[in-house]
Amino acid sequence: MAGGPVFSFGWQNGAFVPADTVTLPLLAPGVTYAASVFEGIRAYTQGNGSGVALFRLDEHLDRLRRSCEVLGLDDVPDPAHLAKTVVELMERNTVAEDTYIRLQVYVDGDGEMTARGPTGVAMLARPRPQLTARLETGIRCQVSSWRRIGDNASPPRVKAAANYLNGRLAGLQAKVDGYDTALLLTEDGQVAEAPGACVLLVRDRVLLAPPVTAGILESLTRDTVLRHARDMGFIAQVLERPVDRTELYAASEVMLVGTGMEVTPVVGIDRFAIGDGIRGPVTQQLQDLYFAAVRGTDPTPDGWLTHVPNTQESAT
Ligand SMILES: Cc1ncc(COP(=O)(O)O)c(C=O)c1O
Repeated sequence: MAGGPVFSFGWQNGAFVPADTVTLPLLAPGVTYAASVFEGIRAYTQGNGSGVALFRLDEHLDRLRRSCEVLGLDDVPDPAHLAKTVVELMERNTVAEDTYIRLQVYVDGDGEMTARGPTGVAMLARPRPQLTARLETGIRCQVSSWRRIGDNASPPRVKAAANYLNGRLAGLQAKVDGYDTALLLTEDGQVAEAPGACVLLVRDRVLLAPPVTAGILESLTRDTVLRHARDMGFIAQVLERPVDRTELYAASEVMLVGTGMEVTPVVGIDRFAIGDGIRGPVTQQLQDLYFAAVRGTDPTPDGWLTHVPNTQESAT
């Protein structure tokens, strides 16, 4: 949850509380053994002046439920109740701007590594303005010498805190070497994803996506962008298939997609320029469609936008 102060109210274990009192106990397995899963959710001001809406909230909470099940919790929080609580958190904080919400579910108490409870749940929100410069100028990535964790070790489709050690190591190495972030390959050498986002490539008007079996988180942004690409006709084909490392260098465009990254152009990889070394036309069109969806200026499938009621009139 990068930078900046959080809104005044948080929520933890059933109660709205001052944000600075939301804490995790040192002895909890959620801390010591990283027995913890989470979601990062964004809310955007709506282009038609109808306040603020959360993007694909129910699906984030459904993924959280699945993560909790793999974590082996006895008591999995009810997604419908969490959805109501997230909306109420936004209302209590009278949010009228672009916002990021972090929701963490963890094994509380002081049990051992295989403890299945008690379940702790906490959430905080903070303003999250769009990083427009990065969306235009793009970023540079390093193919990491760290490999992506595998499904039989620490399953990437579970949004578990423990998985982020892998992304952290790759990200640290990339930054030391002068890049913005990393791209990780699987143990088999196929392209997986970045530490906090999925990767998509454009080759000859085909949009390529490493498949959900390539060590990736099943990303909602990836799903959103692939749907747009399939629907809009400026791409000949969308293919989800294994991607080789050298296809990254041969691509005319590469982008990172995720709740945090949104749709960010990758303009260089391992000191190779991607295409012309600037944001490409397909990336730009997919960005436009993405922001039209999250800001409610284009129609979206039912349930993608959850409006926060008391912001309807305040944010114009
Ligand atoms: C490892 C990883 N991959 C991909 C994503 C993108 O997922 P989503 O689009 O659902 O935010 C994220 C961000 O949550 C992530 O942490």
